[in-house]
Amino acid sequence: MNNIIKYSLFFLTLLFISCAQHDKSNNNQEQIEKNIDALIRKMTLEEKLGQMNQITSYLNIEDLSNLIKKGETGSILNETDPVRINALQRVAMEESRLGIPILFARDVIHGFKTIFPIPLGQAASFNPLLVETGARISAIEASSVGIKWTFAPMIDISRDPRWGRIAEGFGEDTYLTSVMGAASIKGYQGDSLNGRTSIAACAKHFVGYGAVEGGRDYNSTHLSERLLRNVFLPPFEAAVQAGVATFMTSFNDNDGIPSTGNRFILEDILRKEWGFKGFVVSDWASVSEMITHGFAADDADAAMKAINAGVDMEMVSGTYIKEAKQLVGANKVKESTIDNAVRDILRIKYMLGLFDNPYVETNQPNTFYANNHLASAKQAAIESAILLKNDQQTLPIKSNIKTIAIVGPMANAPYEQLGTWIFDGEKEYTQTPLKAIKKLVGNEVQIIYEPGLAYSRDNNSTTITPAVTAASKADLILAFVGEESILSGEAHCLADLDLQGKQSELISALKNTGKPLVTIVMAGRPLTIEKEIEQSDAVLYCFHPGTMGGPAIADLLWGKEVPSGKTPMTFPKKVGQIPAYYSHNNTGRPANRSETLLHNIPIEAGQTSLGCTSFYLDAGFDPLYPFGYGLSYTTFQYGEPTLSSTQLKENDVLTVRVELQNTGNYDATEVVQLYVQDKVGSTTRPVKELKRFMRVPLKAGEKRYVSFELPIKELAFWNIDMKYKVEPGEFNLWVAPDSQSGTPIMFKVVS
Ligand code: BGC
Repeated sequence: MNNIIKYSLFFLTLLFISCAQHDKSNNNQEQIEKNIDALIRKMTLEEKLGQMNQITSYLNIEDLSNLIKKGETGSILNETDPVRINALQRVAMEESRLGIPILFARDVIHGFKTIFPIPLGQAASFNPLLVETGARISAIEASSVGIKWTFAPMIDISRDPRWGRIAEGFGEDTYLTSVMGAASIKGYQGDSLNGRTSIAACAKHFVGYGAVEGGRDYNSTHLSERLLRNVFLPPFEAAVQAGVATFMTSFNDNDGIPSTGNRFILEDILRKEWGFKGFVVSDWASVSEMITHGFAADDADAAMKAINAGVDMEMVSGTYIKEAKQLVGANKVKESTIDNAVRDILRIKYMLGLFDNPYVETNQPNTFYANNHLASAKQAAIESAILLKNDQQTLPIKSNIKTIAIVGPMANAPYEQLGTWIFDGEKEYTQTPLKAIKKLVGNEVQIIYEPGLAYSRDNNSTTITPAVTAASKADLILAFVGEESILSGEAHCLADLDLQGKQSELISALKNTGKPLVTIVMAGRPLTIEKEIEQSDAVLYCFHPGTMGGPAIADLLWGKEVPSGKTPMTFPKKVGQIPAYYSHNNTGRPANRSETLLHNIPIEAGQTSLGCTSFYLDAGFDPLYPFGYGLSYTTFQYGEPTLSSTQLKENDVLTVRVELQNTGNYDATEVVQLYVQDKVGSTTRPVKELKRFMRVPLKAGEKRYVSFELPIKELAFWNIDMKYKVEPGEFNLWVAPDSQSGTPIMFKVVS
């Protein structure tokens, strides 16, 4: 079945399911389309352009009401007061000529009130159900104030931790991001868009934004069509398949074309190839920013290019409402194009049930920080934490440890552990590690708290001394370091990923006490902490873990929970290695790890004596940690995988079985990963690609078979002829605990 038919059928099924649960009159797709047609016939051009105009809530209520009355806006972002939302909605329903409801939008990225770990942390769980649950809870909390649309998930693939927005996405891998993005959409949108607590999701940023040059936000990208299709587009296609209601364009220009003016991606790929039937919103002012890009001459030109490219709704820059009437008059934009945009917007409003139920119930019970929400946020923080190192089984903390020094600027920083892009989270509800640990250990363990530094960028080293004094009195040191929330997120990019301020000095000073040192890192991205890892006996990487980070970390440290997170992206040793990612293509001269590194180079060495391979003299080839890496308190033993067949055809499904045994002393969960390499292609192919993963809980000593089904069709890629094809030939397959381990076994695809 070709893609268009497949996705059209999928979408129709989706519409059918959602309509089936709705009330008779407006409730089937046909009726919705009829309603939309009837409405569009009644609309003036100005009213149509009003629907395509999204404004912020920053105006006063009178000004907002006037705009709504005149039908000049279809959506308002950033209003979170249910009373104001209802008041504005009442104006739309009762005082505007056609009574079209307003769609209220907000960035609900990793929680509304109850804050979950940053999406990059959630990705480390390799648990789509956890992501779905987090999104569902966020939707329940956000919809309770009247928000019906979130600008999430961000499914931009990024291989650059300098980019501040790395925190907001699911990391470097196409498959992991596709799965997590779809799970998140399911969570936000619920079983049906018109559910009371459902909110429309938005797949953003379309497309390539995570590949901005040098990791500098808003920068250009230069992604070939093949790279786009093989790596960057699949999560967005998966989002369409998951029924996402909306898409957002990205700020970057790719190969010279800003996404907001790129008809190829918005029309040819998104709508024609994938059959997307929702609507596309620009990013914040990305329509008018096409002028700054030098892609549009003025507002009129920008509006024309964006509308004709397929951007249905303009976020805040107001060029549509100002210019599009003249553009239609001058035949530069067809009224039918405007009608199509409005149709797509109205369809989502109908599907959300806004015409029938435009108001939010203001007397419903408060759902914020409900016990089950906090429990889910805690579980998410537990599963997001990655144990990077654990020498001599320093962790979990043993019962003979009676005095603990808690040090570091992140130990009791309620705002900083929430992470980036939390507009509505409140630090007053955060449970910090310091408080949670004190509660957990009670009088059993003496806690000496001496932060050493006030915040992550603190350069005042005088306070390190009391921290060292405290550490010297303790049996074990817990050092909480990392970065404040503000150091990651939009426009918060860094050229240096070492620990900020004097944190590194703090770790060195603590190490010098000779006491066992456990370093806990809370950050919005992978940091280059090779030295600090060497100095620590154990390292737990928690990203920004959200509201319940404290209790989650306390339980992990004391072994009430066992770490199971795996790196959702490669951790580089040095910034200069970026982009470092596991699924790179091979060079003609791959690194072989026997190269001569900087400190071993003889004086006046011959030019070719060092190994003519792809590596750095000062950093070698390998990263600090590969993608998919993470330890446990227990150990797992992998058997040799068996394949249902070693010779398969395109329509076959390969079954892979492997025996996994928990060979240690703790009940724990392992994330089993299946990678495949297409050994020879019509274009060069990645050395490995993740194709499946599974969280497998095993009791101490238990063993079981893990089985994966892999349709051979999923080995297709965009080949030399730019066709999506499975190419017959040999493939390597690994079932492994990370992207760097395991021995490959081979199978063949035959035509
Ligand atoms: C960001 C989007 C966000 C929008 C609305 C922009 O600056 O790039 O991701 O959804 O603002 O807040």
